[in-house]
Amino acid sequence: MSSPGPDPRPSYLRNWLSLAGTVLGLSAFFAFVLLFAVDTFSHHGNPYMGILTYVVAPGFLLMGLAMIAAGAWMHRKHLREAAPGAELPSLTIDLGRPADQRRLLLFGGGSVAFLMLTAFGSFQTYHYTESVQFCGQVCHTPMKPEFVTYQVSPHAKVECVKCHVGDGAGAYVKAKLNGVHQLVGVITGDYHRPIKPPHNLRPAQDICEQCHWAQREVGKLDKTYTHFLADETNTQFSVRLSLNVGGGSPRGGEPGGIHWHMNLGHKVEYVSTGEHRENIPWVRLTDANGVVTEFTTKDYKGEPAKEQIHKMDCMDCHNRPAHRYLSPNDAVDLAMASGKIDPSIPWAKSNVVQVLTTEYATESEALAKIADALKSRYAGKSGIESMVTEAQRIYSQNFFPEMKSDWRAYPDNVSHKNWAGCFRCHDGLHKTADRKRTLKASDCNSCHVILAQGSGEELEKLNPKGHNFFHLDAEYSDFSCHNCHTGAFPKE
Ligand code: HEC
Ligand code: HEC
Ligand code: HEC
Ligand code: HEC
Ligand code: HEC
Ligand code: HEC
Repeated sequence: MSSPGPDPRPSYLRNWLSLAGTVLGLSAFFAFVLLFAVDTFSHHGNPYMGILTYVVAPGFLLMGLAMIAAGAWMHRKHLREAAPGAELPSLTIDLGRPADQRRLLLFGGGSVAFLMLTAFGSFQTYHYTESVQFCGQVCHTPMKPEFVTYQVSPHAKVECVKCHVGDGAGAYVKAKLNGVHQLVGVITGDYHRPIKPPHNLRPAQDICEQCHWAQREVGKLDKTYTHFLADETNTQFSVRLSLNVGGGSPRGGEPGGIHWHMNLGHKVEYVSTGEHRENIPWVRLTDANGVVTEFTTKDYKGEPAKEQIHKMDCMDCHNRPAHRYLSPNDAVDLAMASGKIDPSIPWAKSNVVQVLTTEYATESEALAKIADALKSRYAGKSGIESMVTEAQRIYSQNFFPEMKSDWRAYPDNVSHKNWAGCFRCHDGLHKTADRKRTLKASDCNSCHVILAQGSGEELEKLNPKGHNFFHLDAEYSDFSCHNCHTGAFPKE
């Protein structure tokens, strides 16, 4: 850029650092222009595009500019040290000189345009990095299980960040710093398989209660759970439950029922062990009048004050609102109940659960072997195709062998059949210090009543007071369901 003829002012820019900075800055600038054009004109942006365009390229450009300035400064310092006392021209901009005018105009105009573009772009990028696509797909392999299960969850339309990041710049920066750490993990392949559930989620008041109203009175909720036994005829066994969900009852009355735990006026705290908080040996209830009651298991010897005390909230029951891995037993029952797997195919339940629970190294291996196994077992029979397709679909949506993620990795606490869930506290074994009082709702009829059970006409014999649970061939009212029911074939 030097003008011809003797320049009265020597350039400080003639040094290797400024030169390198110029090269870097120019390349970054052209890269930016190119990326910007591609990003503007392409319809479905590549996940990395926004980051490259609006974060990486401007970053290098700024770095180039900084190098130019640093080089000039060092060069000047060097000249001064080489000739102490010598009169060095100062860095003045002479608006009287047309060259300076032009440069200033060019530089100023360019900077403003560039800043506007990057500001706009960063805003886009900010939105982009908050998008479901970014969370679910940039970290493709590791996040695939969460992403796939999320897409078929009741919260499929709730952005990941609504639950995982929160509002405000602080939350954003914290999450992105954490993200850098995770990105390093993704690049180096150094991450936990399966990914551990986060224990630093914000309290439910800040997440769930942004949309759900804790005071809402749900009342009784009727649900039918349809199962098929693993026998030759796939004997149907359904349970019609009337769940006493209750609620806060803002129109009068005390909070009650299952949603009594909404912390309206009272507080439930607990101490847990296990990565998934699967054991809860100590529970403290502080009621609306401030009366404190502690419940412990018989053998609990710990000191709660020294341990981490959790305050119970929505996510202690609804811990899988967006990433629910159906157990093979439940998934096959669901498919049979909806007719996607024909219950008249002999041993269908048993065979499909079996191929789903076989160990496979990769998803593609699993899909191929599931088809092979079922086709050879039913060789010569017609109408098997839809069963095969359905088994494969169940596998793809609930099993992720590459990440070792399936129902076994993530307990679901809203029930008590496959995992202890509610029975972590309501098992009749948590008592006060004098061992005289247990938690309320430690029986089979406080949380729900069984309106009807069995199959066919039996399901029409409703008993509003509740049947005793009839399990296979006998009445059953013990709290050990999950000792046998593990989500696959139950133990006898
Ligand atoms: C409705 C709220 C909600 C939404 C929306 C949501 N998550 Fe989650 N996510 C959770 C909760 C709650 C947990 C903790 C589960 C537990 O403790 O068992 C979790 C756990 C996770 C985990 C840890 C592994 C695991 O399965 O426990 C990852 C990774 C994750 N979410 C990623 C995502 C991604 C990616 C998205 C968007 C595609 C997303 N989440 C959307 C609530 C949500
Ligand atoms: C951004 C809003 C939003 C947030 C945040 C949110 N939810 Fe929801 N949730 C919904 C909507 C909307 C539905 C209803 C979906 C439908 O019926 O299609 C729903 C449904 C539910 C259901 C009923 C699901 C079913 O199977 O019928 C439960 C339980 C639930 N949410 C729990 C939670 C929990 C726990 C959290 C916090 C981790 C949470 N939600 C956070 C919007 C939200
Ligand atoms: C003690 C465990 C527990 C806690 C704590 C809890 N829930 Fe529930 N909730 C349940 C059960 C059980 C059901 C019945 C439906 C089911 O089994 O999924 C239910 C049902 C629901 C439903 C569906 C209601 C309908 O009309 O279909 C929503 C929404 C919901 N809960 C949201 C929440 C929110 C939000 C919180 C926290 C403020 C919360 N729950 C706290 C156990 C709990
Ligand atoms: C961390 C321990 C804990 C867990 C887990 C838990 N609860 Fe509770 N629950 C309590 C405590 C404490 C009380 C109050 C007991 C009392 O007053 O004696 C209670 C009370 C109840 C009540 C009676 C409320 C009323 O009307 O007075 C119901 C119903 C109930 N729980 C259902 C459930 C269900 C369903 C689940 C699982 C989805 C569950 N609980 C999980 C601790 C727990
Ligand atoms: C602390 C509350 C609570 C107690 C006590 C309780 N249950 Fe349940 N039970 C639940 C909830 C909540 C569900 C439904 C969970 C869901 O929606 O997945 C359930 C579901 C069931 C189901 C249907 C499960 C399925 O998948 O078919 C049966 C059967 C059942 N309970 C039987 C019993 C029996 C028998 C007892 C007594 C030993 C009992 N329950 C005690 C809360 C309770
Ligand atoms: C001693 C082991 C054992 C215990 C404890 C047990 N079950 Fe079962 N349960 C079984 C077996 C075995 C079957 C038959 C499974 C089959 O043929 O597919 C079965 C079948 C069922 C079925 C129908 C089929 C299915 O797979 O869902 C339900 C529902 C059920 N049990 C619920 C419960 C509940 C709820 C409890 C606790 C209150 C419980 N069971 C306790 C062993 C047990």
